[in-house]
Amino acid sequence: MNYDNALNQIKKILSKNPSNFLQKIVDFLCDNFEKYNWVGIYTVKRDNLILGPWKGPKATEHTRIPIGKGICGAAAETGKTEIIKDVKEDNRYLSCFLSTKSEIVVPIRKNGIIIGEIDIDSDKKDAFTNQDKIFLEKIVDMLSEHI
Ligand code: SME
Repeated sequence: MNYDNALNQIKKILSKNPSNFLQKIVDFLCDNFEKYNWVGIYTVKRDNLILGPWKGPKATEHTRIPIGKGICGAAAETGKTEIIKDVKEDNRYLSCFLSTKSEIVVPIRKNGIIIGEIDIDSDKKDAFTNQDKIFLEKIVDMLSEHI
């Protein structure tokens, strides 16, 4: 699916204000982008990231990640999107699935504070482009208005 189309559909989902909107967005992303193999949303609780809604072939054992640990913890600490082209090359990486080759983590900010993040794993090496970054950063901005 193209990114503009997807943004319009996500706007539509959010405008209906469903109570499970985070799960709906996760499902939408996982279902419509082939390279988004596992999609999850973590929320910040004190010094940890706690896994919320997710969709993918398998559950992850990393349901609680201390801020500062792994790629997820790094993005939460710095507030910057992390794109990992090859997870094998990054020693911060916490492995969840043997099939994962690349990853993107996009922090969700509300009133200047990091309140969570979207984490996407891909089975494709170097799957995430600057277009994915721009697309997902637009989505987290929309989500933060609803959280
Ligand atoms: N790979 C992440 C951990 C979360 S799983 O990808 C779902 C990390 O390095 O923080």
